[in-house]
Amino acid sequence: MTILVTGGSGFIGSNFIRNVLLLGNVSIVNIDKLTYAGNSENLSDVEGSRSYTFVKGDIGDSGLINELLIKHKPRAVINFAAESHVDRSIASPEDFIATNVVGLFRLLNASKDYWSDLGQKDKDVFRFLQVSTDEVYGSLDSLDPAFSETNRFEPNSPYSASKAAADHLVRAYHHTYGLPTLTTNCSNNYGPFQFPEKLIPLMILNALDGKGLPVYGDGQQIRDWLYVTDHCDAILSVLNKGLIGETYNIGGESEMTNLDVVRKICDVLDELRPSSSGESYEHLIEYVTDRPGHDRRYAVDITKVKKELGWAPRQSFGSGIKKTIQWYLDNQEWIDRVRSGAYREWVAKQYG
Ligand code: NAD
Ligand code: TYD
Repeated sequence: MTILVTGGSGFIGSNFIRNVLLLGNVSIVNIDKLTYAGNSENLSDVEGSRSYTFVKGDIGDSGLINELLIKHKPRAVINFAAESHVDRSIASPEDFIATNVVGLFRLLNASKDYWSDLGQKDKDVFRFLQVSTDEVYGSLDSLDPAFSETNRFEPNSPYSASKAAADHLVRAYHHTYGLPTLTTNCSNNYGPFQFPEKLIPLMILNALDGKGLPVYGDGQQIRDWLYVTDHCDAILSVLNKGLIGETYNIGGESEMTNLDVVRKICDVLDELRPSSSGESYEHLIEYVTDRPGHDRRYAVDITKVKKELGWAPRQSFGSGIKKTIQWYLDNQEWIDRVRSGAYREWVAKQYG
């Protein structure tokens, strides 16, 4: 069985590919444009595997996608490829429309054409799985119930709007053409190989460098955190057992304020790598200008995926964050390389 994975050189995609290859009976073709967020090094340990093929390319390149579909005859397409950072979507939204909307549309359309030409048996097993976000549902007040799959879409950032548009297209391709689609809407992920522009790795690396820990606004915004390999397991469950045309919310049942997340990172670092002065890393916390249109709270109701597919998160935030911090402590070379070039420019622009 072959799966065509897009955006597999990024954070979640690379964790997914590594996990799937360990299962042993699946081949992966990974198409990735290698934007600033994509890094072949994330998969250097599987590069030599006969079950793994890498192709540098854009999901919006219909010719290339057609070629890959015909050549590799995948049983599924899993779309991780996206521009994924909210702050970048505020600074320069155009790339988000190009990849998350237009690119997704071309990938979806090519997949539909490929699927239409399959024989009945292959048609029945084919799936197009769109990896999406809980951010499409908008922002919750503190007492609101968590997002369920029937919540209406109310995206508030260019990033979430582009992902919402993509989810609508996926829905339409199922409804109109019968393409066997699945969609996952997941909460905030953390874990190994996350690019250090996102909250958790940014805070870990700034703390280790003795730099300020920039908490936006009052730090009381709430996110639901999920360890990345739990997300990867959920995607596999949805791929194998999900009902065609359905969407599944995925989350960690682990709501925390940003300030509590940063404090927890400081606690774990104080234990694993105490600062040379002996002072807690917490003294580095600084409050900076809030993100425009900052969503206050995300929370995900995962009743459906638990009941229907038997998936539940395995890591608590406490265990997941320890593993994550240990990974960053053990992988200084990876950090040094991803923090050169484009990363420096972003940090200078965003944080001054
Ligand atoms: P990431 O930014 O780390 O990786 C994205 C990958 O896509 C990179 O390897 C990049 O090179 C590639 N890519 C970008 N544009 C491309 C294009 N036009 N063609 C081919 N490849 C392209 O993102 P991530 O955190 O791994 O997220 C993966 C997916 O999961 C995204 O669709 C994102 O919206 C979704 N998601 C992420 C989170 C999270 O917390 N990170 C949560 C829920 C959903
Ligand atoms: P982020 O990792 O960018 O994910 P998302 O915006 O998709 O939820 O940010 C998580 C939360 O952390 C979000 O509320 C914004 C906040 N944040 C900061 O307070 N400071 C920072 O430097 C960053 C990058 C994020």
